[in-house]
Amino acid sequence: MVARGFKICLLVSSLFFIIVAIVIVTLILTMFKPKNPDIFINPVDLENFQLLTPNSTTAPLDMVVTIVNPNYGSFKQVNSGAHLKYRDTIIAEVPLEARLFPARTTTNVSTSADITTEKLIADPNFWSDVEGGVFNLTAEAVLDGKVTMIKIFKLKAKIYIHCGISFNITAVDASSSCISKIKL
Ligand SMILES: *[C@@H]1O[C@H](CO)[C@@H](O)[C@H](O)[C@H]1NC(C)=O
Ligand SMILES: *[C@@H]1O[C@H](CO)[C@@H](O)[C@H](O)[C@H]1NC(C)=O
Ligand SMILES: *[C@@H]1O[C@H](CO)[C@@H](O)[C@H](O)[C@H]1NC(C)=O
Ligand SMILES: *[C@@H]1O[C@H](CO)[C@@H](O)[C@H](O)[C@H]1NC(C)=O
Repeated sequence: MVARGFKICLLVSSLFFIIVAIVIVTLILTMFKPKNPDIFINPVDLENFQLLTPNSTTAPLDMVVTIVNPNYGSFKQVNSGAHLKYRDTIIAEVPLEARLFPARTTTNVSTSADITTEKLIADPNFWSDVEGGVFNLTAEAVLDGKVTMIKIFKLKAKIYIHCGISFNITAVDASSSCISKIKL
C-alpha cells in the first residue's frame, strides 16, 4: 500500500514538473524570441547638403538612424559594416560606433557618410534622376554583437539592415523604408 501511494505521488509530481517545464519553455520561446528591430534613417540638415563643392571629392551627408529594439534583451554592437549605394555602386561608408541598445528602447544614432561625389556624377543615371527630381540610395548594414537577456544569457547576434532612401530634390526632403533581420 505504501509503495503504491508513493508511486502515485511520484507520478503526480513528475507530471507537475513536466507541465511547469513546458510552461517555462513556452514562455521563454515567446517572450524571448528575438524580434527584428525597427530602423528609420533620416538625412538631416539637407538644406546645407552640397554635393559639389570646390576642392573636395567628398560630400558629407549627415543622418540620424533611429533603432527601436523591441526585445527583452539588450544588444551590444561591437563591430559594424555599413555603406550607401547608388544603384550597384558603393558611394560611401557609414561609420557606426560600438554602442549598447538597451532592451525595449529607442536609440538615435547620429552619423555622417562621406559620399564620393565623382562616383555619383560619373553615372549618367544620376543626372536623369536629378532632372526627374527624385533620386534613391540604398543603405546596407550588418551590426555584429551580443544579445544579453536578464543579465545572464549572452548570445552572439547579427542584425542585417537594408534601407531604401528616397530624396525629393525639389522639396529638399527625404524618406526611408527599412527592413531588418536579427540572427542569433
Ligand atoms: C581651391 O583650390 C585652389 C588651388 O589650390 C585655391 O586657389 C582655391 O582658393 C580653393 N578654393 C576653395 C573654395 O577652397
Ligand atoms: C529620435 O529622433 C526622432 C526624430 O529625429 C525623435 O522624434 C525621437 O524623439 C528621438 N528619440 C530619442 C529616444 O531620442
Ligand atoms: C525611388 O524610390 C521610390 C520609393 O521606394 C520609388 O517609388 C521610385 O520609383 C524610385 N525612383 C527611382 C528613380 O528609382
Ligand atoms: C516632391 O515634393 C514636391 C513638393 O512637396 C511634390 O509636389 C512632389 O510630388 C514630390 N515628388 C515625389 C516624387 O514625391
